[in-house]
Amino acid sequence: MNVRDLLENTYYHLRKAEENISSGNNEAASTEYYEAAKNLLDAAAQSEGELKKVRVENAEKLINMGKRAKNDAANQTARESVKPGESEDYARSYEELGVSVANVPDVTFNDVAGLEKVKEEIFNKVIYPARNASLAKEYKISPGGGLLLYGPPGTGKTFVARAISHEVNAKFVYINPSTLLSKWFGSFEKKIEQLFRLARETAPTVIFFDEIDALAPKRSRTDSSVMKRAVPQLLAEMDGFNRDRKNMVLIIGATNNPWDIDEALMRPGRFDENIFIGPPDLNARKKMFELSLKGRKISPGIDYLHLAEMTQGYTGADIDYMCRKVAEQAFRNAIENGSAKEIDQQQIEAVVGQTRKSVDEQVMQKYDKFLKNAGVF
Ligand SMILES: Nc1ncnc2c1ncn2[C@@H]1O[C@H](COP(=O)(O)OP(=O)(O)O)[C@@H](O)[C@H]1O
Ligand SMILES: [Mg+2]
Repeated sequence: MNVRDLLENTYYHLRKAEENISSGNNEAASTEYYEAAKNLLDAAAQSEGELKKVRVENAEKLINMGKRAKNDAANQTARESVKPGESEDYARSYEELGVSVANVPDVTFNDVAGLEKVKEEIFNKVIYPARNASLAKEYKISPGGGLLLYGPPGTGKTFVARAISHEVNAKFVYINPSTLLSKWFGSFEKKIEQLFRLARETAPTVIFFDEIDALAPKRSRTDSSVMKRAVPQLLAEMDGFNRDRKNMVLIIGATNNPWDIDEALMRPGRFDENIFIGPPDLNARKKMFELSLKGRKISPGIDYLHLAEMTQGYTGADIDYMCRKVAEQAFRNAIENGSAKEIDQQQIEAVVGQTRKSVDEQVMQKYDKFLKNAGVF
C-alpha cells in the first residue's frame, strides 16, 4: 500500500477510536488506536529523514493511547460490571433476556453541561425522593416510576439518563426497542413481564428505553400486531409496578419524536413526568467546548465565549463532533508536516464554519409547535 492510503487508514481508525471513546466504548477504541498505529508505522517504513522520525513518534503515541484506552476499559469493567456472587446470577438473567445491564454508570450530573432547569427538576422529582425514600414516604411521595425525556437528537438524553442512574446509585439497564422487538419476537409479553420482575428483584434499577417511539408508537399509526400487543403489555406492567414501590425501579424513556408516542403512555402512573431536553444555550455551549477540548493539545488563548456565540442552534453532539474533528485535522497536519502544532482559534472556527447543524430549523419549529400545544411554554 502507498503512503497516502496508509495515512488515510490511519485517520480512519483514529476517527473510529475517537468515536468509540466518545460513546464510552474503550475496548473498541483501543483496537482502533492500535490499527491506526500499525498503518502509521507502515507509512513510516516507506518514509525518510525527519518525516520518518515524526511518524514513528506519532505511532508510539497512538500505541500509548491504545494502552490507556485498554486500561480504562479494564477499570470500566471492574467498576461497571456486576460483582461476583449473587449479582453474577442477575447479570446472567438479564443476559438471557437479551438486554445489557451495567453497574452504576460513572457519568455524573456535573458532566452534563447546561440544562440547569432540567437538572433541578430531575433532582426534585426523581433523585431526592430516591435518596430519601423513608422521608419521602411520610409526605406520600414515592420514588421511582416513569420519566420521559424528549427533545431533538444529540441534546444529551441518553447522557442524562446515565447520569440519573449514577445519582440514584442504580444499575442501568439499556433497552433498544428496535433490536429487542426482533429478539423478543413471538414472546414479547412474557419477556417484558420477566424484565420488570427482574428489575424489581435487583433494585435499585433504572430501565432505560431508548427511542421509545419505536416500541410504543401511536396505535392508530401501526399495523403491526406485535406493536398492538406490546403497548398494552408495557402499560399493564407499569400500572402494576407503581403500586409496589418498595424496591426503587425507575423507568426512563427517551425519544426524538414525542408526537409519535402513544398518548396512553403519558397518563398518570405511567410516564407521568415528561421533560423536554432542548439545545444548549450560550453558557452550555461554552462549557461543552471547554469539556471537549480539555486535555487536547490546544493553544492557551482559546476564546470559548466566541465559539459559543458562533454555534447558536448546534447540539452537544455537534460540538463534541467538531472538537474531535479539529483534533484529527491537527494530528493529520502534525504527521504530514513533521511538526506538532497546537490547535488554535482559527482552526476551530474553520471547522465550525464547515459543519452543518444536525438539527435544522424545520425540526425546531416542529418542537416549538409541539411544546406550545402541550402547554409546556
Ligand atoms: N448537555 C450535555 N452536556 C455534555 N455533553 C453533552 C450534552 N449533550 C450532548 N452531549 C454530548 O453529545 C453526545 C451525544 O448525546 P446523547 O446523550 O447521545 O444525545 P441524545 O440521546 O439526546 O441523542 C454525548 O455523549 C455527549 O458527549
Ligand atoms: Mg440517545
